[in-house]
Amino acid sequence: MIVTNKKYGYFSNLSFMAKHHWHGHKNYIFIQLFLAPLGALTSVVAAFLPKIVLDCVENSVPPLSLLTKVTSLALLLCICEYLRNFLSVKSHHERNNARCIIFHKLICEKTMGMDYNNYIYNETRVLREKAWNAINSWEGSASRYLELNFSFISSFFGFSAFTAIIVECNPWFIPILVVCYGISALGWLLLQKYKDSVKDKFSAVHLKLGYVTFRSKDFANAKDIRVYNMTDFLMRKIEKHLKEMQGFYTKKNNGHYINVLIEDFFKFSVSLGAYIYLVHLKLNSSMTLGDFSLYFGAITGFGAYLARLVDSVAEIIESDHNVNDLRNFLNIPDNMNKSVGKPLPDRNTKVEIELKNLSFTYDGADSPSVDNLSLKINGGERIAIVGVNGAGKSTLVKLICGLFIPQSGQILINGTDSALFNRDEYYTLFSTLFQDCALLPASIAKNICLCEEEKIDRKRLYDCMHLAGIKEKVESLPDKENSLLVREVHDGATALSGGELQRLLLARALYKDAPIIILDEPTAALDPIAENEMYLKYSALTENKTAIYISHRLSSTRFCDRIILLDNAKIIESGTHEELLALGGKYAEMFRTQSKYYRQEEAV
Ligand SMILES: Nc1ncnc2c1ncn2[C@@H]1O[C@H](COP(=O)(O)OP(=O)(O)OP(=O)(O)O)[C@@H](O)[C@H]1O
Ligand SMILES: [Mg+2]
Repeated sequence: MIVTNKKYGYFSNLSFMAKHHWHGHKNYIFIQLFLAPLGALTSVVAAFLPKIVLDCVENSVPPLSLLTKVTSLALLLCICEYLRNFLSVKSHHERNNARCIIFHKLICEKTMGMDYNNYIYNETRVLREKAWNAINSWEGSASRYLELNFSFISSFFGFSAFTAIIVECNPWFIPILVVCYGISALGWLLLQKYKDSVKDKFSAVHLKLGYVTFRSKDFANAKDIRVYNMTDFLMRKIEKHLKEMQGFYTKKNNGHYINVLIEDFFKFSVSLGAYIYLVHLKLNSSMTLGDFSLYFGAITGFGAYLARLVDSVAEIIESDHNVNDLRNFLNIPDNMNKSVGKPLPDRNTKVEIELKNLSFTYDGADSPSVDNLSLKINGGERIAIVGVNGAGKSTLVKLICGLFIPQSGQILINGTDSALFNRDEYYTLFSTLFQDCALLPASIAKNICLCEEEKIDRKRLYDCMHLAGIKEKVESLPDKENSLLVREVHDGATALSGGELQRLLLARALYKDAPIIILDEPTAALDPIAENEMYLKYSALTENKTAIYISHRLSSTRFCDRIILLDNAKIIESGTHEELLALGGKYAEMFRTQSKYYRQEEAV
């Protein structure tokens, strides 16, 4: 189970964000350091400018001196404003860079680097979605965490300066203003609470919407959508999820409108109250026009700063929760060993695999997909695993190659528990061909060799393509092994047929040249001639390797040393093809049924 809602402390989040910005994007931090005091300074200068001018006028200061004062203050204000705007735009730009370069990258790295065992959980997908939303949302985005904190400090300076001015005018204004803007703050905090409470549901809906939208435009789905007329179904789903999303947005926006209304009402009341009081003061005291202007600016400015402080706090809270979401995803703990592991078996020796009472149940499933299974595969032995759909064949090989963690039991590799090896080193023991493989948007050569261009061993590449039966096809292409794949990304990329794709992926498995080779239905998409060719080459493909071969074509299993029949997550028969036929059990029955069809086909 994955912990999804750990709360990190405020300072811990602050140092987390500062550390990442510092390592990835120092500029952003320096900009905030300048921007915060500049903001406060600009407001204070702006508040004092009219007072100074009015005082000069009232005191009949000589025109030249007045002009000098006004010009220098206006110039200072102008420079501050310009710098503030310039740095704000720069900050926006740098934040976007940081979002893409630092946090986007972190999420991608985590997604690809986490234990596969964690990756398959539904909770993980929702957490990843929340992490995406956390950095990409506008309000209170995690990527704005630092600037929101700096902006709070800037507002606090401005707020303190205006407080001092108001106290000089009449200290009673402070509690009145605090109550007025406090009510408005409460509204913003309640809205924030609502946003937090729907975050999980929102992310789950967002994930579903993303999935159906992706399916509606996915290349692989385009045929079925047309032939089976899936448009209505997909559109209904898209509309349903859009409506659900709209529901969240509507409630959130309604809350926003109400809060703005309350805030504006208090702003208006404060301005009106300030005018009445100051006019009264002017009429009944010796207050100068300059002071009138300064006090009025301070009272309304105080409200604006208080509102800004409250906004900052609300946004900091939201951003803090978003940083939590980001960290909750990034900190999903890996259970597999990623530190120093036991040394791997020598690549040139044959590797023995022993499974001891192995059990594995998928999250949320009622029954195990691998049930207390024990099996010893000798070094260099070629095992065939057969069984009906859903028997547990693919799950078993995913356990062996270290993708899943068994709930109980052990996998021993040359006598060493597989859990003691370093996870990533352990993967180097396996060349695999799974049922659901994907191509990379790169050249054929890179798809097979999975390394940089200059490290590709061309001779080995061609040998593997030859063994996998794809060499002729590649040689017929204008750019040969440099031809690009994946049309969605590269214009004019080569399109491969299902069988050609399977051969290419087989070539990838062969190029890796690992001591254990696992092929999960490698001939499913091949034509009978290609399939036969593959059986003939099977000894060459698996030379000196421990091999596990999953197939539904029982005739293919004859090329293996031993056949394991899986049924309902357990081994029910084991032996050579001849032994199992002689046993007269389920394998013999399945074989007879299959060969009957082949004979019938031959008779026709
Ligand atoms: N990611 C998953 N989450 C939950 N259950 C799963 C998952 N993958 C497979 N299963 C279930 O585990 C059981 C075994 O699946 P597995 O893919 O191992 O079967 P298989 O023998 O390889 O079948 P096939 O011949 O169709 O490839 C099935 O009942 C399947 O529904
Ligand atoms: Mg399978």
